[in-house]
Amino acid sequence: MDAFIIQGGKRLRGTVRINGSKNATLPLMAAALLTDDPITLNDVPNLADIRNMAGLLESLGCQMQFDTAAHQMTLHATDRTKNTAHYKIVRTMRASISVLGPLLAKRGYARVSMPGGCNIGDRPVDLHLRGLEAMGVQIHLDEGYIVAEIPQGSRLQGARIFLGGTFGSTVLGTANILSAATLAEGTTMIESAACEPEIVGLADMLNAMGANISGAGSPRITIEGVETLSGTDVTVMPDRIEAGTYIMAGAITNGDVTLENCPMDAMSAVLDVLTRIGVEVEVRGNGADPMRQTVRVASARRLSPVHITTQPHPGFPTDLQAQVMALLCLADGNSIITEKIFPDRFLHVAELLRMGASLIRNGPSVLVSGVHELIGAPVMASDLRASAGLVLAGLAARGTTTINRVYHLDRGYERMELTLQQLGADIQRVNHDVV
Ligand code: EPU
Repeated sequence: MDAFIIQGGKRLRGTVRINGSKNATLPLMAAALLTDDPITLNDVPNLADIRNMAGLLESLGCQMQFDTAAHQMTLHATDRTKNTAHYKIVRTMRASISVLGPLLAKRGYARVSMPGGCNIGDRPVDLHLRGLEAMGVQIHLDEGYIVAEIPQGSRLQGARIFLGGTFGSTVLGTANILSAATLAEGTTMIESAACEPEIVGLADMLNAMGANISGAGSPRITIEGVETLSGTDVTVMPDRIEAGTYIMAGAITNGDVTLENCPMDAMSAVLDVLTRIGVEVEVRGNGADPMRQTVRVASARRLSPVHITTQPHPGFPTDLQAQVMALLCLADGNSIITEKIFPDRFLHVAELLRMGASLIRNGPSVLVSGVHELIGAPVMASDLRASAGLVLAGLAARGTTTINRVYHLDRGYERMELTLQQLGADIQRVNHDVV
């Protein structure tokens, strides 16, 4: 099992290009099931989750080519007879649920293993299922599988669907209903739709395939169903969470880092928080595409504490909560971080304590009292973003930090150690057992 060994204390300097977004790519890949033509995706990151989704789509009758060096993937759904998303794949990646809507819309039947909970919470899919039921889908559970079908000879029916839940809207739920509704009979209106930029990217791609979607990026999305969709060739948006992570890596090491291909237009809340913390973020290049900007991050002084609440977009993203907590561990004073999306997403807290952080958790909130320094230690996290937070802490810590179970990081960051080495970090990937 791979681990990272980090000698902390190096100031990061240099330039890094942000990769295409994992969370944007996954529903785009699932949308290949909606057409008989091939689709081509550019700037696809070479990540474990992407390869898992590719394997799932192959098992559902898609031909797949992935040129990992060119970051280009082509998917072509050629066999409509394979409609089961098996447990052995779904359990490795919850985003597998994204195939449910496209399978139903195109094939009228799907058998998808019910995703279980994961390390960041229970993560139910009730909103996905309720939305599909409103469109005329009959659903029952069979031996851990969601069995969903449309009565023979009919199509999905357009409907008015409310997708708000206890913790806000649902990103993949919106992606599922949006994708399914493109081929439904009549008009579908999603209320309380997720406003995440990844949803806008999906709607743009579906429109390029011939769908008729308006309002994506707002809480109300309207979809006029069409008869068929065709193939397309699109470029995936850059990864705002990867960008936020490397910005914070620059900040926590008092470094000077330039990011290219940075989706600042989707990062207002992050920019606001970083500015309040005292990180200098300079957006360069007037008139450039606001989703692909060049950004210089510098932080030469002590950081100020802030209060942060994670929220659905355009609020501060839960996927950067662990990373910003690592940063605030070294601020001058007390910060409070409240997690509103996944109230138990705090696997990094106990590990940061092992590195000398001062953290008190009370339910969905953590009081972060800034300390003078973090101290390297062997740590382990069982979640992708928690691991990223620990890497940031290790970059700033005195001494050696060993991050175990790096496979969590590999799900969402393409060769993170190479990127950090390029910026001057002392970080090595080693293959060894848990220390
Ligand atoms: N929820 C329900 N019922 C549902 C669906 C969701 O109650 O049917 C709840 C969830 O339990 C959670 C909230 O609604 O409390 C939001 O969950 P959401 O459905 O939006 O999460 P998701 O779509 O499964 C995506 C990202 C996550 C990211 C969340 C929130 C992908 C592949 N995953 O998950 O990314 O944290 O949105 O922004 O897009 C990550 O990349 O590390 C990651 C976990």
